[in-house]
Amino acid sequence: MKISPNDSCWCGSGKKYKKCHMANDDRMALMKSKGFIVPSRELLKTPEQIEGIKRSAAINMACLDAVSKEIKAGMTTADIDHIVHETTISMGGIPAPLNYEGFPRSVCTSLNDEVCHGIPSEDVTLIDGDIINVDCSTILNGYFSDSSRMFMIGEVEDDRKKLVEETRRAMLKGLEQVKPWGRLGDVGAAVNAYARECGYSVVREIGGHGIGLSFHEDPWVGFTTRAGTGMVLVPGLCFTIEPMINAGEAPIFCDEDNGWTIYTEDGSDSAQWEIQVVVTEDGYQVLCW
Ligand code: MF3
Ligand code: CO
Repeated sequence: MKISPNDSCWCGSGKKYKKCHMANDDRMALMKSKGFIVPSRELLKTPEQIEGIKRSAAINMACLDAVSKEIKAGMTTADIDHIVHETTISMGGIPAPLNYEGFPRSVCTSLNDEVCHGIPSEDVTLIDGDIINVDCSTILNGYFSDSSRMFMIGEVEDDRKKLVEETRRAMLKGLEQVKPWGRLGDVGAAVNAYARECGYSVVREIGGHGIGLSFHEDPWVGFTTRAGTGMVLVPGLCFTIEPMINAGEAPIFCDEDNGWTIYTEDGSDSAQWEIQVVVTEDGYQVLCW
């Protein structure tokens, strides 16, 4: 579809194409012709779509805020699921994990050596010294948001505290790399470099993802990537940064019985933080944390 410079822009801003997305579209077309991986137009969120994602994210963050107020030893992971489910529904949203490819609950809760996709259960009670990732995702009016935080239960030993804190810093190192016309591989390279300096390993098989109009869109976001590789970060591209970092070795395995929960192979602890960002004309905006 050919748009003339004086036509109104495809993004719905109401501005003329030449005053809006034309320069970026031209730049992308040129890069594509040179062999760069550039996002398709569907992946670039319009201002209206970003507003929709932010409203979804407000619910997602309210869920995690509610969990952070209530989480404590003696509570089960099913109680966390209940908090997230009730908060989401009361604010008019839908928990994205619920029934997603058969996932049975509204949130993922991953404890200690669980890397991700832990299923909340009445049989799992939090105890003093645990670390847990609560990964929350929301749908509102068709817009998706996704973020996760770590929580420490009671008195946590120093090694675990350090893993939680350094994983947050590693995620922020990745975030620093998000800039227009940068490369997605720079994000993972920065995360991996920082994690390795700390003596940790980054999970290779599971990563972040584009998100907005569906739960998981392109691009896939690895956290052991090489700098200067991968998709070009075009303004409007929306994705998650969600590294899983192991205190020990990188290999993982999936629970054969439930088909979901991922564990570290060596039984070492694992931590994860997840934020959702959009590339802007001068850097990035965090949409959900
Ligand atoms: N929230 C996870 C992510 O960051 C996805 C979990 S899928 C589920 O991509 F079904 F396990 F919820
Ligand atoms: Co995610």
